[in-house]
Amino acid sequence: MSAVPSVPDPGPVAPARERDGALRERARRVIPGGMFGHMNAASLPASYPQFFESAQGCRLRDVDGHEVVDFMCAYGPMIVGYRNAEVDEAAVRQARLGDLMTGPTERMVELAERLVGLLPHADWTLFQKNGTDATTLCVTIARAATGRRKVLVARGAYHGAAPWCTPYPAGVTAEDRANLLHHAPGDLEDLRRVADTVRGDLAAVVVSAFRHDLGRDQQMPDPAFARGARALCDETGARLILDDVRAGFRLDLRGSWEPLGVRPDLSAWSKAIANGYPLAFVAGADHLREAARSVYATGSFWCGGVAMAAALATLRVLEREDGPARMARAGQRLRDGLAEQARTHGVGLRQSGPPQMPLLLFDGDTAFERGMLFCEVALRHGAYLHPRHNMFLSLAHRDEDIDAALAATGAAMAAVAARFGRS
Ligand SMILES: Cc1ncc(COP(=O)(O)O)c(C=O)c1O
Repeated sequence: MSAVPSVPDPGPVAPARERDGALRERARRVIPGGMFGHMNAASLPASYPQFFESAQGCRLRDVDGHEVVDFMCAYGPMIVGYRNAEVDEAAVRQARLGDLMTGPTERMVELAERLVGLLPHADWTLFQKNGTDATTLCVTIARAATGRRKVLVARGAYHGAAPWCTPYPAGVTAEDRANLLHHAPGDLEDLRRVADTVRGDLAAVVVSAFRHDLGRDQQMPDPAFARGARALCDETGARLILDDVRAGFRLDLRGSWEPLGVRPDLSAWSKAIANGYPLAFVAGADHLREAARSVYATGSFWCGGVAMAAALATLRVLEREDGPARMARAGQRLRDGLAEQARTHGVGLRQSGPPQMPLLLFDGDTAFERGMLFCEVALRHGAYLHPRHNMFLSLAHRDEDIDAALAATGAAMAAVAARFGRS
């Protein structure tokens, strides 16, 4: 008899993956590694699909026809529901007029006005396409304003995939990183210590909305740290940059640090601004207007009108529906249900971060085996979760979707308890 009990009810049969398997095979021949970047399913449980066919609301359908409640929301961009009618109608209306033309559309001015009205720290905005465009441009503007070189970030924080900030070393030179400094996350004393080493040459301190590093318990910002970072920038003349790319519009429509009473000089946004249409932006204070003007900021697709029309509609829905509060309520329903299941099965489960962006980690799970099993079984029962990355709630997650997901996680929690025992 095996010492390890078998997993009870791993769910309906393992999902068939014929089309997914065939696509992976074809992709391997024409795409390095078969898939790249954060959406590569190679680090997910083996039965997870790589390819999807369609989505509606908070439901995803993979290429083999399996439907699941999605808690990744395209890694954040989906915020009011896949194929939200109001957003898609605004996008289609603009597409009929024209998307990318030889200059921007009226939507760009409307959206800039809307964002300046919404974000108390912003007097102007510049638009891009991806979060890395926005964080990189923030740093460039801070350097243009200060004439300084050094940029200080929290160790382990993700700010994008460009050579100056990517956490992965391949293809990156020491010179690319020569002006990047790290401090211990959330440690004001260390932030001050490192800043002191480059006094007079510190262009910017880049902070995350909250600590959301891969595979670690998430941590909300300590208001004392936030105030201390602001004070340090004021004392030294460095610019405070808030990277709101991941959390933006989920925690607070005015910016994620607004509830702390701490305003950045510059902020970087992307992901959720247009409910999946490609858009990013930098927002800044008046005193950086001239520096922003002086930087050559551009990209072939940055001025497309469709994503801007989608962003205007997304903001309208989020404001009307009290977006962050509703997402928090949905996330709390999920969190409460999971906590109850963990208690019932005697499983040590840690849930961290804001309920709108939950992360699940199991006690003693250094190799993420419990998390992988949990996600694998939950997927078979109809819920798409992530074993290491924070997840995302949206306005499309209604009570019945959360309850359907909890039925799936109940089976998954039982499987973890059966395989690994009570903890
Ligand atoms: C906090 C943060 N900053 C920057 C980025 C980079 O955004 P993008 O992948 O759109 O370039 C991300 C992406 O996940 C992010 O989470």
